[in-house]
Amino acid sequence: MKRIHHFKEMKARGEKITMLTAYDFPTARAFDEAGVDMLLVGDSLGDNMLGYDSTVPLTLDEMIPFARAVAKATKNAFVVADLPFGTYEVSPEQAVESSIRMMKLSGAQAIKFEGGRRIARQVKAVTDAGIPFCGHLGFTPQSENALGGRRIQGRGDGAYDELLADALALQEAGAFAVVLEMVIAPVAAKVTAALDIPTIGIGAGADTDGQVLVWLDALGVGDWHPSFSRQFAQVGTAMSDGAAAYVRDVKGGAFPSSDHTFDE
Ligand code: KIV
Repeated sequence: MKRIHHFKEMKARGEKITMLTAYDFPTARAFDEAGVDMLLVGDSLGDNMLGYDSTVPLTLDEMIPFARAVAKATKNAFVVADLPFGTYEVSPEQAVESSIRMMKLSGAQAIKFEGGRRIARQVKAVTDAGIPFCGHLGFTPQSENALGGRRIQGRGDGAYDELLADALALQEAGAFAVVLEMVIAPVAAKVTAALDIPTIGIGAGADTDGQVLVWLDALGVGDWHPSFSRQFAQVGTAMSDGAAAYVRDVKGGAFPSSDHTFDE
């Protein structure tokens, strides 16, 4: 079973950390058996699993059953659950209450939410409550409207200093790791080198301490994936081919055969 100290050790010895999103029991079990180090029950489940236009409408109550299914399926990976938009920004008290609710009802081992210095008080309160915390900086999808869309982060004068100040504030507040999303590679590399805690990149180049991808992007489900992701499998095609074979065999009378039939 992976624990937070393992990730710090992996950073120290230069071993890359792997993280994939997971939202349900069979997918989490497959990824756990494949040796993925961390599973993220991301609020990307709003757009990827529930068909929302963004992560913004998702609620804590909607997320909890997905996180519980992932935690139940997992034997070795470390399970991190996102707090959705609107469940932590108001105050440290709100963040602690939402985190405790997620931890108690899901069995996840850590909480992640978005932001840097602006939510550092929340992070300190959560870690003081004994809850492992993973940060999320760079492009933060819950603030997509404020950021002016899906924009690459870290460009321009002062961008590195701002990102570093946010990352250091999270580290200081007790975060055990930080996700860097859509950050230009040289800036992500410099932030990674400046931190004691591991960085986990998504669209942030090869020099972060680990990588995370949304699993549907990584395994080929859906007709679009971001340019920073690679399709390591074609699960969507395998599913539609399998379903088409089922339709063909049922309609053609080839299924069920005597092998699939109880005679007496
Ligand atoms: O919700 C999510 O899937 C995430 C990843 C993009 C890191 O936060």
